[in-house]
Amino acid sequence: MKSPITWASLLLGLSLTSAATLQHITTPFGPNPTSVGFYIYIPTTLTSNSNPPILVNPHWCHGTAQAAFAGSQWATWADKHGYIVIYPDSPNVADHCWDLSSAEGLTHDGGGDSLGIVSMVRWTIKEYNADASRVFVTGVSSGGMMTNHLVGAYPDVFAAGAAFAGVPFGCYAYPGNNSGVYGWWSDDCAKGRIKHTGEEWKGIVERAYPEYTGWRPKFQTFHGTVDETVDYVNFGEQVKQWTSILGLSETPTRATANTPVSGWTKYEYGTEGRFEAFSAAGVSHGIQNQESTVMSFFQLNCTTGCFSWGQGGQGGSLPSLPSSSTKNSVTSTAGVTSSVKTTLTTTKVTSTTKAAITTTAATVGQTLWGQCGGSGYTGPTVCSTGTCTTYNPYYAQCTPSP
Ligand SMILES: *[C@@H]1O[C@H](CO)[C@@H](O)[C@H](O)[C@H]1NC(C)=O
Ligand SMILES: *[C@@H]1O[C@H](CO)[C@@H](O)[C@H](O)[C@H]1NC(C)=O
Repeated sequence: MKSPITWASLLLGLSLTSAATLQHITTPFGPNPTSVGFYIYIPTTLTSNSNPPILVNPHWCHGTAQAAFAGSQWATWADKHGYIVIYPDSPNVADHCWDLSSAEGLTHDGGGDSLGIVSMVRWTIKEYNADASRVFVTGVSSGGMMTNHLVGAYPDVFAAGAAFAGVPFGCYAYPGNNSGVYGWWSDDCAKGRIKHTGEEWKGIVERAYPEYTGWRPKFQTFHGTVDETVDYVNFGEQVKQWTSILGLSETPTRATANTPVSGWTKYEYGTEGRFEAFSAAGVSHGIQNQESTVMSFFQLNCTTGCFSWGQGGQGGSLPSLPSSSTKNSVTSTAGVTSSVKTTLTTTKVTSTTKAAITTTAATVGQTLWGQCGGSGYTGPTVCSTGTCTTYNPYYAQCTPSP
C-alpha cells in the first residue's frame, strides 16, 4: 500500500513532467488511417479554466516531431502565451515527408495523413477544452506543404495558416488515379513545372470539400527566391491560389521592403490582412522561421478580442464538429492537377494599382540578389551588379550575369 506522501510526490512529479516535455499520445484519438504519430506540448501556463488556442506544427522531410519541437520557439512561447502545440510525426518510413499526393488526403475527412492530424486537433479540443475557433498551422518545407494542404481541405478546422517554402494545395497530387497513392514526391511540383491560373487553383481547393460554403482561413506564405529544393515558382502559384480562394486581386495592395528581415519583401493583398506573401531575396530552401511575424498574424499572444475563425469571431458561426467517423466515399480519382481546364473564365489582372505602395525607392542600382521588378514593386529596376531576371509577375531579381 502506498503512503499519501508517495502519492503526493508521484502526482507532483507527473504534473511537472507533463508540463515541461513533449508527450506522445498513444491512446486512440480518432480516425488515423495512415498512423501518423501524435505528439503534443501542453504549456506550463495552462490552467483548468483555460480555453487555449492550438498550433499545429508539421515537420519537414527527414524531420520528426521531436526535431520540430526542438527546432523553433513555438513551445517556449506556448509557455508564455498559453497555447497548445501539436507536433504530428510522419508515418512515411522512406523519407518522413508528408502525404500530399493521395485522393484520400486531398479530400475533406477522406483519409491520408491530413485526417490523422485533424483527428489530433479534434481530440485536443475535447480533451483540453481548447478553442475550436483558434486552431492554426505552420511549417517549413514538407511542413509548409502540409500547411497549404490542411488549410485547403479543412477550412472549417483552421482559422489561419503560415507556410514556409511550401507549395499550393493539390500541387503534389499524384497524376491519374491517386486513390491510395500516399506520400508520393512530385518532382514536377518541386521543380516549379506545375502552373495554373488562380481560378484553376481555386477549383482544386474547392473540390476537396465541394459542399463547403463557409469562411476561408487567412494565410501567409514565405519563400526564398533561390530555393533549390522547392522552386520559387511555387510562391507565385500560392499567391494565385489563395488570392483566388479569398476573392482578392492578385495585385498586391501594398509592398514593404526589408520586412520582417533585411532583403525580404512583404506583399499584402486586399485590405483586411487575409493574405500576405513574403519574398525572401537570395534565400535558399533553408529559409529562417519567422515565429514573431507568424505569432502576430495568428494573434497567439493576445488575451482578449483575439483573431479567430470567422474573421475575428464576429463573422460566422463555426460549423459543428463532425462526428469522428471517416467517410468511406473517396471514390473520385480524377487527377487533381489535370482536369479543371474547360469551364474556366480566366480573370487576368491587367491593371496595376500602385497607389498604396510604400516601398522606398532607391536611387542607385540594385545589388546582387536584390529585387529589381515585379508587381507592386517600385524600387530600382536596374542592377548595379548582375542582370535583372524575371521569375514571375511578382518578382524579378538581380542575378549574376552569365
Ligand atoms: C484506382 O485505384 C484504386 C486503388 O488501387 C482502385 O481500387 C480503383 O479501382 C482505381 N480506380 C479506377 C477508376 O481505376
Ligand atoms: C504579439 O507579438 C507581436 C510580435 O512580437 C507584437 O508585435 C504584438 O504587439 C504582440 N501583441 C500582444 C497583444 O502582445
